[in-house]
Amino acid sequence: MDRIRIVGGNPLTGNIPISGAKNAALPLMIASLLTDDTLTLENVPHLADVEQLIRILGNHGVDYTVNGRRERQSEGYSRTISFSARNIVDTTAPYELVSKMRASFWVIGPLLARTGEAKVSLPGGCAIGTRPVDLFIDGLQALGADIDVDNGYVVAKAKNRLTGNRYVFPKVSVGATHVLMMAATLARSETVLENAAREPEVVNLAECLNAMGARITGAGTPTITIEGVDSLSGARHRVIPDRIETGTYAMAVAMTGGDVILEGARADLLQSALDVIARTGAEITETNSGIRVMRNGAGIAPVDVVTEPFPGFPTDLQAQFMGLMTMSKGKSKITETIFENRFMHVQELARLGAHITLSGQTAIVEGVSKLKGAPVMATDLRASVSLVIAGLAAEGETTVNRVYHLDRGFERLEEKLSRCGAVIERISG
Ligand code: UD1
Repeated sequence: MDRIRIVGGNPLTGNIPISGAKNAALPLMIASLLTDDTLTLENVPHLADVEQLIRILGNHGVDYTVNGRRERQSEGYSRTISFSARNIVDTTAPYELVSKMRASFWVIGPLLARTGEAKVSLPGGCAIGTRPVDLFIDGLQALGADIDVDNGYVVAKAKNRLTGNRYVFPKVSVGATHVLMMAATLARSETVLENAAREPEVVNLAECLNAMGARITGAGTPTITIEGVDSLSGARHRVIPDRIETGTYAMAVAMTGGDVILEGARADLLQSALDVIARTGAEITETNSGIRVMRNGAGIAPVDVVTEPFPGFPTDLQAQFMGLMTMSKGKSKITETIFENRFMHVQELARLGAHITLSGQTAIVEGVSKLKGAPVMATDLRASVSLVIAGLAAEGETTVNRVYHLDRGFERLEEKLSRCGAVIERISG
């Protein structure tokens, strides 16, 4: 299994190109199931999760072609990919595939809306809490689907097409908002989704669906209205820049010090996180090419955060922020409200010398003046990258094991960081 070796202590200086967002690309790829025409997506990141979803969609009959890559970039960076679901050959998503990536459960919406049936495995256990699918089931039932849960599978049927309805999400869910919005595009009459997720990835998906002929208004607000249409066509659409990757590198610079331009990043996608990073003492400015992050000399100020649905501080940056706070000049409080059990990085950060105590869903981080490198590992994507950030600032050598977590969500991580002066390399085997 590959590992990442880091020798910490260098400030980061230079440019980091920000990739297309994984969490936008996945639902957009799934949207290709809604049409027999070709959906072309630009700026699709080259990530293990994307490759896995290509295989899963292939199982349903989706063909794809890779049309090219961004100019002047080497192979392995974001690409333009065309997806064609002319013939849906299978409406079952088996456990072997869904259990590898939770987001693949989302095929249930488009398959049901387009073909009138879908049999999708429950995603199974997950490292960051139980993550149930009750909202998907309730919501699809509200649109008229017959649903049974049988032998670990959700079996959904809508023989006479889905029917629009008003559905109030009892809890904000990004995935359930994606799925109900996609399903409602092909339903009879109008659907109104209340208490919908407002994440930029929802807006990106709605824009793509509208380019395909859907009639969606209100995406990005808590109320989304979808006027169903008979069919959707193909379209060409661009994946937004990854706000979690942006925030992660911004926090890395805030921790190591230095001066980095995050090329192609959009501040409006993560304003609350940028405000927090600025309060820690980093200087953040928007430039023509992206976002510039600097920290020179000044210490890291402690800041309290609470994770919240967008536009609040994202749960997907919580672990990285904790990494940054381990070296603050004081005490900070980090509260996780979205997922239970999302503190697996705490023990590993402690191996680097961090002082963190947990009390329920809150972590109290007592800043230390230095961290010391050590071998570490993590059990999820964002937790792993928090260890990379901490390793970049720690004295001596840190080895991050289980790199496959990083490969799920960070495109060319070690290349991007080493170009900015970090000593970081992948060790194969
Ligand atoms: C998406 C993101 C993930 C991010 C999360 C929250 C992708 C591929 N993943 O995950 O990176 O951390 O949003 O911003 O985009 N819930 C239920 N019942 C359901 C569905 C969800 O109780 O049927 C709960 C979850 O357990 C969690 C909360 O709702 O406590 C929010 O989860 P949700 O927004 O659905 O997360 P994902 O869409 O899975």
